Amino acid sequence: MRRKLVAGNWKMHGSLAANAQLLGALASGSAGSGNAACAVLVPFPYLAQTQQLLKGSGLKWGAQNLSEHAAGAHTGEVAGAMLAEFECTYVAVGHSERRALYHEDSALVGRKLAAARKSGLTPIVCFGETLAEREAGRTEAVVGEQLKAVLDVAGLELLAESVVAYEPVWAIGTGRTATPDQAQEVHAHIRALVARQDPGVADRLPILYGGSVKAANAESLFAMPDVDGGLVGGASLVAEEFLNIWRAAERLAS
Ligand code: PGA
Repeated sequence: MRRKLVAGNWKMHGSLAANAQLLGALASGSAGSGNAACAVLVPFPYLAQTQQLLKGSGLKWGAQNLSEHAAGAHTGEVAGAMLAEFECTYVAVGHSERRALYHEDSALVGRKLAAARKSGLTPIVCFGETLAEREAGRTEAVVGEQLKAVLDVAGLELLAESVVAYEPVWAIGTGRTATPDQAQEVHAHIRALVARQDPGVADRLPILYGGSVKAANAESLFAMPDVDGGLVGGASLVAEEFLNIWRAAERLAS
């Protein structure tokens, strides 16, 4: 059985003072049974603080982006090896905000996924359709194209060592969550596409749902057979809310 994972995507939020409170509350409120994993993806400058405050707790941590390059003249970029120095477990690649606002295409996302694996990090690779694409009946096609483009660059072996997150763009930060059935449908589609290449890899691949996950809807989403947890934005900034989402995953996994 796939172990559930709840990952908090802080986006560009936080301060040393606010983080100290949030991370302290998460570390001491750890769900603790170990049935479901939990992590926070924090802005780069806060990795040292996060490492210090979460080390020895039940939580893992990581970053929201990395460079496709290993080192060199890339002003403003951050390499996977640097993230590994702060004991990051995860790094998000291809979040829709990076695709839309920073023009990251699927080929670049594939190269970033490969760079993450080279540094021993587990990529959380994000796919998802816009509202216009959903309304045009193109959801499965769009997600399939995104998956294929990443596979073309990075290959199945590296995807097999990654986590996938399905995040419909229209559900991110909008309060409009996909229904459990809508999420399940796309998750099953992604798994079926991977299964065409290797059923074993597909069976083991964790696929998270993201987009307005909160404590009130987490359990019904995570209960779906192909939903292996969540990538949580806004609700991950509120300790009790995020802990309750983790607890929902723990209950389902036990
Ligand atoms: P949200 O963000 O939970 O605030 O909708 C999810 C994400 O962007 O990962």
